[in-house]
Amino acid sequence: MEKRLMKEFEAVFKEQGEAVFFSPGRVNLIGEHTDYNGGMVFPCAITLGTYAVVSRRADAHMLLYSNNFREKGIIDVDLNKLQYDKQDDWANYVKGVLYFTQQEGYKLPCGLNILIEGNIPNGAGLSSSASLEVLIGTILKELFQLPLSMLDIIKLSQKAENQFVGMNCGIMDQFIIGMGKKGHAIALDTATLKHTYVPVQLKQASIVIMNTRKQRGLTDSKYNERRAECEHALSQIQKIMKINSLCDLKEEEFEKIQHSITNPVERKRVRHAVLENIRVKKAITALENNDIIEFGALMNASHISLREDYEVTGVELDTLVESAWQQSGTIGARMTGAGFGGCAIAIVEDETIEDFKQAVYKEYTKRIGYEPEFYIASIGHGAGKLVGGCIQ
Ligand code: GLA
Repeated sequence: MEKRLMKEFEAVFKEQGEAVFFSPGRVNLIGEHTDYNGGMVFPCAITLGTYAVVSRRADAHMLLYSNNFREKGIIDVDLNKLQYDKQDDWANYVKGVLYFTQQEGYKLPCGLNILIEGNIPNGAGLSSSASLEVLIGTILKELFQLPLSMLDIIKLSQKAENQFVGMNCGIMDQFIIGMGKKGHAIALDTATLKHTYVPVQLKQASIVIMNTRKQRGLTDSKYNERRAECEHALSQIQKIMKINSLCDLKEEEFEKIQHSITNPVERKRVRHAVLENIRVKKAITALENNDIIEFGALMNASHISLREDYEVTGVELDTLVESAWQQSGTIGARMTGAGFGGCAIAIVEDETIEDFKQAVYKEYTKRIGYEPEFYIASIGHGAGKLVGGCIQ
């Protein structure tokens, strides 16, 4: 992989690359739409991700080329004129990180040539954009010896996504992509950023990723709408109770104060956030106790709550998950990520995976009219420099 990418870099930029970097995608095992409500999440990094080969330039330009968007050619970005431009498409994520790195006072001594290649399916909700952002932050730190910690890179990347691209995401995706560890999920408290690594041992079962392949158009605006609903409900609750975020509420407290939320739709959103946060904590304990049956049951409950109360699933994700539930080897299944399309995950007993895929494929294709895709998730490392196939 590294050798092939080096060669391609040479073909595009007519010089040798200096180093290769990798940044993963992610799946979230449980804890959806809790990360901007001060709650818990439980994601892991996957071995699918984004690669980059880089070399330094003598001027202040970044020349960006992606093997995934060859038709766009080389995109020339002037470090002194960083502005969002719809035409530049994927390069806006790169520009956002460059912009905020400089804004925070870090000097970029020169430009770079960067060749990118990703094997995360695009727009599948496995965080290809956060993967790219954290990748760029990691490259800048390494090549220019910037005094940035991984947490700084994570925060800069989230800022780029929020304020440069306009997607008001929480911190989960950038965090797991920067901090992921092979074979482990991270139990992250998004209010304090306290986190622990939990080994993911599923006995004789694996995580199957199921891609709806639905083209997601309005995802960002729908996502921002959910976030605004939560913020509005929080401001109403804060008039009668002292809390910082929705996930501060215990279940009994929610029951008591729910009528202060005047809009019934917003009430449902809050119920999801509060109960999902409780489910994540239970799920982490279940996994630590090797109780994957309980873990699977909590995943199923999470999906139902996202379908009924948070309303971010849609017929494609529901069809995948509901048909996964019908299979004898399924331990649990739910959508993962923002929703509205993208991917779902299922924990499936290894010996039944082939039958599982066939049955879910058949049902989905019949109902939806096009084919889903399946990948077996393997839990990998966070972003870093690649040397001899290993992340440093
Ligand atoms: C997207 C966002 C995350 C998180 C999830 C939903 O992936 O980027 O911050 O909010 O949706 O859990």
